[in-house]
Parts: sequence; C-alpha cells; structure tokens
Amino acid sequence: MQRSLSHLKEKFNFPDIIQFERQGELIKCLVNFKYAKAEFFLQGAHITSFIPKHLNTDMLWLSPQSNYSMGKAIRGGIPICWPWFGKSKTDASLPQHGFARNSEFSLDSIEISDETVTIKLLLISNRESLKLWPHNFKLEVEFKFGKRLEVSLTTVNDDALPFSITEAIHSYFLISDINKTAIRGLANIDYFDQLTSHSKAQQDDLEFNQEVDRIYSASKEPLEISQQNKVKVEITQVGANSTVIWNPWQNKAQAMSDFPDSGYLTMVCIEAANTSTGVCLKPGEKHTIKQIIKG
Ligand code: BG6
Repeated sequence: MQRSLSHLKEKFNFPDIIQFERQGELIKCLVNFKYAKAEFFLQGAHITSFIPKHLNTDMLWLSPQSNYSMGKAIRGGIPICWPWFGKSKTDASLPQHGFARNSEFSLDSIEISDETVTIKLLLISNRESLKLWPHNFKLEVEFKFGKRLEVSLTTVNDDALPFSITEAIHSYFLISDINKTAIRGLANIDYFDQLTSHSKAQQDDLEFNQEVDRIYSASKEPLEISQQNKVKVEITQVGANSTVIWNPWQNKAQAMSDFPDSGYLTMVCIEAANTSTGVCLKPGEKHTIKQIIKG
C-alpha cells in the first residue's frame, strides 16, 4: 500500500504537474497541466474533479457532504462499480456496487505528454478481496486527462477458472438545473426501470421531473447532456452493453447522509456499464470498458 505521501512524491516526482496530499483519511492526487486540472483518490481509483481549461468549470459533481474515510465510498465524481453493479446476486449483505470503490489502489504509472497526462492504477486480488469474491484478478484503471477525459477499466482473469463480472463507470455530471436538462441520443432505446421493474422503450430525449433509475441498452451514438437546449457534454462508451441513468430526486437525496437535500438539482449520473448479462472471462482473458467525456 502506498500509504506514505513522501514515497509517492519521490516515485512520481513531477512537482509542476502532480501533487499529492491527504484529505481526511485518504490520499489525493492533484493534476494541473496545459489542458486540464483534475483530482483523484487512490482509494477506489476515484476521480473527484475534472476541469478542462477551455471550459474553466468542473464537469463532475461532488457532494460537499462526502466521506473521505478508509473503506467508505466517496459521493460524487466517478466511482468504479466492480466486480458487481448494484446488489451482489449471491449475497445481499455484500457491499452495494462491489468492493473496488472502497479499496485502496496502487498508483502504477504516470505518463506526461504534450496533450495528455495518463495515470494507471491497479487493484490486485488479495486476502480481503478473496473473502468477498473468491477469484484472482487484476483490475487496471486508466485515466487520460486532456482536453477531454477518458476513463477505462480493464479486468484481467488471473484465476484458474472462468469468472463473470458486472461493472460501471458511475460518473456524476455537474449540471446547472435538472429541470432544464435533457439527455439526447436515447430515443427508441429500450430500458429497464429499476424503480418499477418494467421494461420500456424511450420515446424521445430524456427529461427529468422525478426520480430516475434506469438501465438503457447501449446506444451506438454518443449521448449528449443538453441544458436549456445547448449541448454541454458528449459521452461515448466502449465495451459496455448498458448505460445507467440515475437522479435520486428529492426524497432519496434527503435519505442519504452524504448527499445534500438539494443536490439532486445539479447532478445527473450517466454510467457506462455492463449490468445483468455481465462479462464472462476465461483464465488469462481481459476485458476493457471505457467512457469518454467531452465538454
Ligand atoms: C445507481 C443505481 O447506479 O447508483 C441506483 O442504479 C443507486 O439504484 C445509485 O441508488 C447510487 O448507489 P450508491 O450505492 O452509491 O448509493
């Protein structure tokens, strides 16, 4: 574990571009270069801020009431849900959305080019993970910070037996007003409504006037977040069979201790995911899921 800040500073010595600091119990890395500023935590390989300099505003929503404690997920930014999305199918007492978002990753490499800063983080099966999920694996998370942001998640089966995963890149986007927001690119796409357990097809752009928790079949086209009829964000996904869209609305927001009561007004989650059918990997196989975010 890279618990020591001095060790990280020595190993990744790019003081003009990369800084490390502690926030609460966790280690945070701050990136600042020509095209963007960003912040991420080693716990969960969790990005909490991405500010492209041409926009000069954060593209991600982060809860001001979030925890920064070991073993507790950060609320907002981009949590990684892995090796299961939602509740575990085998044991409901296991942590929702898997254990990756609560686990300490190691910082494997930082590469700096003219256009991008590329960060690789690793989580490898260990005594704790094997108690929750009895498989040997390697999970590689890569962030490419540039004018846009690319997040990819590569699962490697390091076991002697096949295993299946479900997963999501659970991005929380910062918006100005959920009542004036639409998601474009979903028309005619089927979805499973997690609130009613019914399947339907989307008629038109998705607009919000209540809680939304839906798993859409993946669209071939990029999705767009439009605010007051202007496209603000374009989201592309690769290697994902679904897109999850979530806004908790008022009542669920109030019920979450790490979420401000009015927070639902300025966020929407759009998640690149492999949900119910998941991904099965034979020994030695690997699979990558990716989300590309452009402002
Ligand atoms: C979404 C799910 O991906 O995550 C929702 O579809 C869930 O059902 C939401 O409520 C937040 O989950 P959590 O565990 O971070 O509170």
